[in-house]
Amino acid sequence: MPATDSTSQVEQLAQWLSKSQFVCAMTGAGFSAESGVETFRGPKGLWSGRNPMDVATPEAFARDPRDVWRFYIARLRQVAGVRPNPGHLAMARLESLVPGIGLITQNVDRLHQRAGSKEVIELHGNLHEARCTACPYVGDLGDGPLSDEPKCPQCGQWLRPCVVWFGETLPPDAVQKAKQMAAQCDVFLSIGTSSQVYPASQMAIDAHAKGARVVEINPGWTPLTAHAHLAVRAKSGQFLPRVVERLAQLREP
Ligand code: OAD
Repeated sequence: MPATDSTSQVEQLAQWLSKSQFVCAMTGAGFSAESGVETFRGPKGLWSGRNPMDVATPEAFARDPRDVWRFYIARLRQVAGVRPNPGHLAMARLESLVPGIGLITQNVDRLHQRAGSKEVIELHGNLHEARCTACPYVGDLGDGPLSDEPKCPQCGQWLRPCVVWFGETLPPDAVQKAKQMAAQCDVFLSIGTSSQVYPASQMAIDAHAKGARVVEINPGWTPLTAHAHLAVRAKSGQFLPRVVERLAQLREP
């Protein structure tokens, strides 16, 4: 009988985690929502009222790089002005409470790293770096004033954000590592993602097929919900700290 009320769900998940050798977590935009970062889908999402094809494709960048940079610089400024939320802090603490953890994120905001998570697989890149469209240069956008015409310090050509755009392939190393982690975990946590974007969405399904317990934490329903062994309808910044606290109690000698 699956746990349904929030206290028994906290207990259930803490128990599963306490018996796990390797935990895999996939996070999405909802994980950062409580920090004040906009999600993508939904009525107030980044993609509502804006066609992603106008700002998040190689074609859009070729057509109007300044416009695309304005969008990404606004996002970078937004994430620079927010802080990791209790969910990020709980995820970082979880690292010391389980034997092994693989943290995979679709987020480009680096809030997991700022909260203290040590190794984070960034499936969709990050907002903080840019790479040259003509030469191998990759660099940090830095803390200084941001131009909407960032050019390569080595060859003078346009830099582009180190994020994955629609129609582009994901970083192969990140995908390979993420798939390996999903295949070896005992518990797969899918948190704050609409589970609509491949291949991130497939990893929970693959983990399920390999026998992992699949847990979703999301106030809304997603295509993954029906497959989850435990579907928690809650905000991650509220629910995850309770689970990690309970797990810490279970770990006490
Ligand atoms: P979405 O915006 O599609 O979905 C966010 C999910 O988070 C929704 O299911 C919400 O119900 C849920 N949510 C909202 N607040 C939450 C909270 N406090 N706690 C837990 N969950 C919450 O974001 P993603 O699934 O991350 O890709 O989107 C996937 C990809 O689509 C993004 O990485 C981006 C986008 O197009 C690229 O740009 C390549």
